[in-house]
Amino acid sequence: MDNFLIRGGKPLHGTVRISGAKNSALPVMAAALLTTEPVKLHNLPRVRDIITMGKLLAHMSAHVVTNEFPGTDYTIEAQTVSDAEAPYELVRTMRASILTLGPLVARLGKARVSLPGGCAIGARPVDLHLKALEKMGAVITTSHGYVEAAVPKNGRLKGAHIVFEKITVTGTENILMAAALAEGETILENSAREPEVTDLVELLRKMGAHIEGDGTSTLRIRGAEKLRGAEHSVIPDRIEAGTFLVAGAITGGDLLLTHCDAEHLGAVIEKLRQTGVRIDTDTPGQMRVRPAEKLVAADMTTEEYPGFATDMQAQYMALATQAEGASVITETIFENRFLHASEMMRMGANISIDGRRAVVRGPAALTGTTIIASDLRASASLVLAGLVAQGETLIDRVYHIDRGYEHIVEKLSDLGADIRRVHAPTS
Ligand code: UD1
Repeated sequence: MDNFLIRGGKPLHGTVRISGAKNSALPVMAAALLTTEPVKLHNLPRVRDIITMGKLLAHMSAHVVTNEFPGTDYTIEAQTVSDAEAPYELVRTMRASILTLGPLVARLGKARVSLPGGCAIGARPVDLHLKALEKMGAVITTSHGYVEAAVPKNGRLKGAHIVFEKITVTGTENILMAAALAEGETILENSAREPEVTDLVELLRKMGAHIEGDGTSTLRIRGAEKLRGAEHSVIPDRIEAGTFLVAGAITGGDLLLTHCDAEHLGAVIEKLRQTGVRIDTDTPGQMRVRPAEKLVAADMTTEEYPGFATDMQAQYMALATQAEGASVITETIFENRFLHASEMMRMGANISIDGRRAVVRGPAALTGTTIIASDLRASASLVLAGLVAQGETLIDRVYHIDRGYEHIVEKLSDLGADIRRVHAPTS
């Protein structure tokens, strides 16, 4: 298993290229299951989750071809789908495997997908995905840890009026894909408005789907009998970009981010500016971050898009440990997403947690120690804490970060960070 060894205290300087969005890449890859023709995808991030999704699609007999391994350009051709099953071995490493459920049921009239189960940041059920598919005519059973969906009669899903009880990103994406091949019109209310949902809509439109309302909470989809192949480049990763904004700010550096989209980061940029961090977004596709003259505390609450992303909460907490005053951080999306806080406390941060609220008092002088990464974004926040801590920080279980951050060690080293990957002997 790999660890990261960081010697903190170096301001970061230079230019960093932001990769494609993992959370866009995963649904658009799954969307390739909706057609027999090739779907060509560009700007995919070279991260483990993309490799896992590729394996999953290949398991279903799709041809998955990439320019290099791991690559940024993929062609996926699902001429035939022989096995409508997402097995546990693959799903267990990536919850987003559930994104194959909608396309499989829509195309084949049946699917068998392992239930993702719990994960470190909360229960994360998929009940809303299943209820919506049931409304579209699928019969759903769960047994032996698998969800089985079958569409009786002609095997084709029917359009339906679905009101999500709660906003769900992958739920919206799953049902969008299912509706694109369903008979008649589907209306999705209270759907997610994340840029990644809009990116998927754009691909589905290129494939021949009729969809209105993207970017709003009501989506209208007129199902097509057949969808065609298409070519699509995924949007930049707003969470990776946000993480580098914090990296620049927390180390007192000066960074230029390229190939990014500031529009997708409105709430994060506004909050960072409130703490005093200077961010320049004048040049399209770029952002420049310079440190605050004085970093001050600011309260933050996570929300669905366009609010402050839960996927940036942990990184913001790392920054808050260095700000003067008390920052109240409220997590509204996931019930157990403060696992990074206890590791930061071991590094000397002053944080108290009460349910979904954390109070961070700063500035605290962090010191390096051995810490454990619990999930993808928590890992990123611990790297940020390590970059500002005095002495050596050893982060264990960094396989989480490899799921979603492309070449993070190389990118940070190029900016002047003292960070390296060490291969720990397996015990
Ligand atoms: C997606 C993102 C993840 C991000 C999250 C919230 C991908 C691959 N992952 O995850 O990075 O943190 O959105 O922005 O895009 N819920 C239910 N029942 C359901 C579905 C969800 O109760 O059927 C609850 C969840 O437990 C959670 C909330 O709804 O409390 C939001 O979850 P959801 O938007 O579905 O997250 P994901 O799509 O899994």
